[in-house]
Amino acid sequence: MPVPVITIDGPSGTGKGTIAELLSDRLGWRCLDSGALYRVLGLAAERRGVSLDEADALAEVAAELPVAFVSGRVLLNDEDVSDAIRTEQAGTAASRVAVHPPVRDALLQRQRAMACPPGLVADGRDMGTVVFPSAPLKIFLDASAEVRADRRYKQLKGKGLDANLCALVEDIRARDARDRSRSVAPLCAAEDAVVVDSTAMSIEEVLDRILKEVRRVFPELVP
Ligand code: DC
Repeated sequence: MPVPVITIDGPSGTGKGTIAELLSDRLGWRCLDSGALYRVLGLAAERRGVSLDEADALAEVAAELPVAFVSGRVLLNDEDVSDAIRTEQAGTAASRVAVHPPVRDALLQRQRAMACPPGLVADGRDMGTVVFPSAPLKIFLDASAEVRADRRYKQLKGKGLDANLCALVEDIRARDARDRSRSVAPLCAAEDAVVVDSTAMSIEEVLDRILKEVRRVFPELVP
């Protein structure tokens, strides 16, 4: 029996990560935050002095990346880098390393290996198109760039960090453009994905909408 997988793809700032965590908790499934892999790779490369443009050198780092996900924390070589990988700079570095085909190949099996019983919720950009193309339920979560930037702005301010709304909108647009236009595994909805636009929705409303789809595809899982 194949392990059931639910994929949640979409651009940054749509709440994918939060939704993937809430959903995996609800189902008792594992959760794959594939963006964290690219973020950790960007950090590891910068620390080792590997240029973010050198595909082969980056793929070597990716193949041996000592990353672990433990109790909601992200470890690189046993160092907790959960906060270090969440900066805007780390997001941009992740988006830059992610354009290289050898890097994506090097991370592919590691992502597929996360699919263990009873099931997996996988969050990213190419979960439904490339990594788990036969997943029985694929969600593509979208929202306007302005709303995504505003959510990020509030998140940063809430943490007491400096933030500039206009700069965030620009960053989000630039990252979307790079993620959507790259030659391999570009950000796009799989043909069989359910597209959910969360622009005017709260996290609870998005979760309810997705649970409706989960009930449709896996009626035995959600009462
Ligand atoms: O989801 P995130 O914001 O943490 O992802 C950071 C970057 O990593 C994103 O801009 C593009 C890249 N990424 C990717 O190319 N493929 C994935 N499956 C996940 C993330």
